[in-house]
Amino acid sequence: MSPKFKNPRARFNFQGRTCSITGVGSYLPAKILTNAHLEKMVDTSDEWITTRTGIKSRRQAAKDEFTSDMAAHAARRAMKMAGVTADQIDLIIVATITPDMPFPATACLVQQKIGARRAAAFDVEAACSGFIYALEIGQQFIMSRTLDTVLVIGAEKLSSITDWTDRNTCVLFGDGAGAAILQSRPGSHGLLTAVMGADGAKSNLIHMPGGGSRCPASVDSVAAKLHYLRMDGRETFKSAVQAMYHAAQEALRRCELDISKIKCIIPHQANRRIIDVVGERLGATPEQLFVNLDKYGNTSAASVAIALDEAVTSGKISRGDLILLVVFGSGLTWGAAVIEW
Ligand code: ACO
Repeated sequence: MSPKFKNPRARFNFQGRTCSITGVGSYLPAKILTNAHLEKMVDTSDEWITTRTGIKSRRQAAKDEFTSDMAAHAARRAMKMAGVTADQIDLIIVATITPDMPFPATACLVQQKIGARRAAAFDVEAACSGFIYALEIGQQFIMSRTLDTVLVIGAEKLSSITDWTDRNTCVLFGDGAGAAILQSRPGSHGLLTAVMGADGAKSNLIHMPGGGSRCPASVDSVAAKLHYLRMDGRETFKSAVQAMYHAAQEALRRCELDISKIKCIIPHQANRRIIDVVGERLGATPEQLFVNLDKYGNTSAASVAIALDEAVTSGKISRGDLILLVVFGSGLTWGAAVIEW
């Protein structure tokens, strides 16, 4: 057992089996939408967006570029880092709230795009918390020895559900995808614990009312803009701080880790102020917090997956470092995970 951990609930010691992230990858569409562009579209300013959110620009997928395309690009990059071929993949899990279509699952479209013919495939919908939910599901298959190689992806084309006339929401979101390959690697530790939670009583805080069985698409539903994301920003902010703080604390408690032992905290990239408050409450230093929302905005389920890839490829994380992922999103949902890289 590693001298860093004592808690038997940490999964690295689970019958000698571990679940490691052996490859990560991400994809961001080429088009950059800056705050200056948004100033021309709605009544807003670079100053307001920067001070209230920390966001300076976001990426926007092309008209003919879909969630499955971005997911497949990120997946290929993660497979390359892991040295995994398409036929080695047993399962593909895509976390998204912007699937290519209500069904079939975007994971099935990714399976076809990357040629992973042996893989089972399904989607997970937990909004911005989706990547941690998907990681935890994937880990269960690895730890139970049911599967050897799981591809987990967070991918979103949020521009497709954004009301570009609503300044309250359109300045916040961006498109992109991030992916991770999960495998068991004897001698390494990987995913130590994952915490997940939800509170459906607050489902109205962030939601898209139209397009489901409650409100199928109709001329009236489109005219009433029910197929766009809606959010009560102020209430969401408060809930996000609470939920992220408690999820992170619980993950650290399970591993008997003090925050000072964490090399890099990768929070959901929704708002710089949320990240700073959560970091402060956890007793983290600014250097521990990984932030890239200035470039990409809130990419929902793709957010921590893209950030994890950037943290690894930029050298912020090295083998053996402890990482804390912490997320929050519509549902409400939340989650946190501790990983030994
Ligand atoms: N430009 C200029 N003014 C604006 C803009 C804008 N883009 N957007 C809102 N305002 C105005 C409002 O109309 C309001 O004006 P009023 O006082 O005259 O009514 C004023 O600015 C202040 O609005 P607040 O809602 O108090 O602004 P706040 O400081 O809360 O910031 C924000 C808003 C950025 C949305 C913040 O609340 C936030 O980040 N919330 C959390 C979002 C989040 O974490 N989402 C995660 C989940 S997303 C998912 O799951 C898909």
